Amino acid sequence: MESVSGSLIELADWPPEGLSETEVGLDGERQSLVVLRRGEDVKAWLNVCPHAGRRLDWAPGKFLVDKGRLVCAAHGASFELEQGQCVAGPCVGASLVPVAVVVAAAG
Ligand code: FES
Repeated sequence: MESVSGSLIELADWPPEGLSETEVGLDGERQSLVVLRRGEDVKAWLNVCPHAGRRLDWAPGKFLVDKGRLVCAAHGASFELEQGQCVAGPCVGASLVPVAVVVAAAG
């Protein structure tokens, strides 16, 4: 599975539960990320669908979620939110590109 190097993010910037979007510098480029926060557990993926390379959100930071799965706004690919694997739609078996996140105390 492909991955990219991590980036510094502020945990306080996100609601305690759910999906958000942010842009960060990764590998020298501005990248949009999908951020999933469940309390102190935070996961992130590039906001790029493996089907056709489109953003997953229908507007910046606005994600479709159905039965706990992230649904790509372009053609409906459905991703489970543990590993980011596509489980239904046009790219079954493909995965979102994970971005390393380390939650650390401020200070
Ligand atoms: S670009 Fe996401 S399903 Fe086609």
